[in-house]
Amino acid sequence: MLKDNLTSSNKIVRVSLALEKDLLSKFDKWVTKHKYKTRSEAIRDLVRANLVKQAWQENRSVVGTITIVYDHHVRELTKNLTKKQHDSQAHVLSALHVHLDKQNCLEVIVAKGNSQQIQDLADSIIGAKGVLHGELCVTALGKPQ
Ligand code: NI
Repeated sequence: MLKDNLTSSNKIVRVSLALEKDLLSKFDKWVTKHKYKTRSEAIRDLVRANLVKQAWQENRSVVGTITIVYDHHVRELTKNLTKKQHDSQAHVLSALHVHLDKQNCLEVIVAKGNSQQIQDLADSIIGAKGVLHGELCVTALGKPQ
C-alpha cells in the first residue's frame, strides 16, 4: 500500500512510462519552466502534491499556514485573532508577526490538524472584520500517517 509520506527511506526504483509525444513535450516545457534538473524530480513532486491533495480530501492530518494582512487599528481585532487561535480545534504550532507599516500587520499562523479543523480556523481568521487579505496553504506532515 502506498503510504502518504513525503520523505521516504525506500530505495529508488526505476520505472519507465509511456506518454504521447505532445504530452511529453508539454511536460518538458513545464519541467524547464519550473527549473527542475530532471524529469524524475518533477514527477516526484507531482506525486507528492497529489498525496497532499488526497490527505486534504480525506480529512487526514495536514499542516496549514494561514497568511493574513490586517489593520491592527480595528477595534478588538488583535484580541479576537488570538482568541480564535486558542479556541481552535486545530493545534496552532506557531505564529509569526510582522509590523508592515503604521497601520498594517502581516501574520503567518502555522496549524496542525485535520482538513476540516484547519479550514474552519482559516475561514474564521480570514473572514474576521479588519483582515484585508488571507490565504491558506496546505502541506502534508512529512511522515507516514
Ligand atoms: Ni503589528
